[in-house]
Amino acid sequence: MEFINYIITLIKPENMLYGKQLLEKTEPNCHDLILIDDASVVNELLLNSLVYDGFLISTDTSLLIDEYLLNEYDCLSLPECNCVIVRKNNNTVFFMTAQERTFSNLTPISLRSIPIDHPQIIYLLAKAFSVSKYLEIGIRDSPVITIMKNIVDELHGVDIKLHDSAKLCTKFHNMTSDDFFKNNIQFNDYFDMIFIDANHDIDFVKRDFDNSFRCVRNHGLIIMHDTYPKSAAYLAQCYCSDSYKIGSYIKSEYSSKGLCSYITLPFHPGLSIARKTIS
Ligand SMILES: C[S@@+](CC[C@H](N)C(=O)[O-])C[C@H]1O[C@@H](n2cnc3c(N)ncnc32)[C@H](O)[C@@H]1O
Repeated sequence: MEFINYIITLIKPENMLYGKQLLEKTEPNCHDLILIDDASVVNELLLNSLVYDGFLISTDTSLLIDEYLLNEYDCLSLPECNCVIVRKNNNTVFFMTAQERTFSNLTPISLRSIPIDHPQIIYLLAKAFSVSKYLEIGIRDSPVITIMKNIVDELHGVDIKLHDSAKLCTKFHNMTSDDFFKNNIQFNDYFDMIFIDANHDIDFVKRDFDNSFRCVRNHGLIIMHDTYPKSAAYLAQCYCSDSYKIGSYIKSEYSSKGLCSYITLPFHPGLSIARKTIS
């Protein structure tokens, strides 16, 4: 529950729906969070009552991610955390949409004040997944490495620069991520969790994702940073660049083909999570 509770503190729900209310109130665009413990109550009407970026969290993990859900929503199935998380999504960030002008009843979720604490989310997920083999692509002086060092058996870091946190890695690979993946085919299906946080230009993020998908074990996690900036200023190359485009790429190439489930958490500067599901 720790992971779900943390996500709810980030959403800071202003208009939440749960329990018996579900049967009574399903007007369009009015709820930012719907909590359910029975997947059978999920229908189009209920999902339509979510605001832009609104969340439905089901603690009933039998919730099926079908074609309808995949079209308009991000859906991450996390049996390891006893939940399925669904987020309304039109494949762009809030500040770029026409909704920005018409959205008036609630504060947009992406603009609520709590910035995402990505090391905390990665730590909570790593605990739930009992992560033993962890890879971070782009380490700089990563607070994540400092935390993960205490809970994993093997910690690999990749960076084009030699930073102090390289000393904390079991093995530091001083090279581009492209070279790392090209030279290390022994890591196919190897890692329990991979954190992509290197070059944020979309072509680099796509390649890092494709390569990571090959190197993460089935049911393992790939996490990406800086995928949901709160304003245009953060599209600069030195911040998030255009890595927010990774969501539509993963949807068309992976999740729509049943290869993973996937969500972008819309809290600045954004964190995306994919769980590999090869049947
Ligand atoms: C945003 S920082 C990483 C921050 C860190 N992961 C954290 O959580 O605080 C990006 C890092 O990626 C490295 N980098 C940039 N392009 C890269 C590439 N193509 N391959 C590997 N590392 C790269 C940079 O040197 C920099 O240290």
